[in-house]
Amino acid sequence: MFKSASLTADCIKASPQVSDLVHSPFTTRLGATMFEYYEKYPEHAARFAKAMAGVTTSKSGTFFFDRNTMANRPGSPVDRKPSTLGDVFPWDTLRGTVVDVGGGSGHISIALARRFPHLSFRVQDSEKMLAQGRRVLAKEDPAVASRIELQQHDFFQPQQPGGNAVAAFFLRHVFHNWADADSTAILRALVPGLEAAPARTPILISDRVLPCLGDGTPLHEERAMRRQDIMMLVGLGAKERTRAEWETLFRAADERLELKRVHAQGQSALLEVVLRK
Ligand SMILES: C[S@@+](CC[C@H](N)C(=O)[O-])C[C@H]1O[C@@H](n2cnc3c(N)ncnc32)[C@H](O)[C@@H]1O
Repeated sequence: MFKSASLTADCIKASPQVSDLVHSPFTTRLGATMFEYYEKYPEHAARFAKAMAGVTTSKSGTFFFDRNTMANRPGSPVDRKPSTLGDVFPWDTLRGTVVDVGGGSGHISIALARRFPHLSFRVQDSEKMLAQGRRVLAKEDPAVASRIELQQHDFFQPQQPGGNAVAAFFLRHVFHNWADADSTAILRALVPGLEAAPARTPILISDRVLPCLGDGTPLHEERAMRRQDIMMLVGLGAKERTRAEWETLFRAADERLELKRVHAQGQSALLEVVLRK
């Protein structure tokens, strides 16, 4: 990643108007997109997965220098913890099946299913990720495992109508991996599912909402989010988004998509989006 970062200026010079998976500093440096590279080098992929798991389970965020006390203090709690996610949205108001789109091996759905026993989950991802999920589910409490279905699905393809059973479409840490054109396509593919579901069935997006300049966000939090934004650019030609950028994305995907509410802020944000019918 550091070597890729050093080629950011070259990448932008070569492709000033387009930034995406292919036109990214990572691909410029290594001649393969991040997904292709990790497919080719499983040992590097395993190290990356371990680092991601470390961030998820970490007890505190980064440290920051407190100018008042002149001491290092722990940063805000890591947003990636499933417990935080369970607190930022009233999951108990939902009924039926939450479709966890790009849900990986299902670890977040499992955590939510433990906490909200009235909900079922459908985890959608590639066969490779779901195979890991099957191994995890085999060791899980059957009362939880029986409420989790694993379904192979490419999120660029339209959702099959799930009808009344669908409580929400949930996407965690998906959009920040993708440039606007790809993110728009992922959102658009959800629309057939929303059209078949009960009115106001939400899309729940767990991703960062970047602060606007000078809006009072503590500097250490803003720095962490902007650093993440640059990492998404370097690795994937993608980005984190401000609230206004999210709203532009929803409108580009479908004029009827409306941001109903942003639950929590910044690192822990969860965006609730509905389709006006
Ligand atoms: C950053 S991970 C997030 C996983 C999970 N939502 C979480 O919060 O831990 C992005 C996920 O998107 C999945 N993914 C990438 N391309 C996909 C596609 N075309 N269709 C479905 N899933 C995809 C990856 O396999 C990966 O599990």
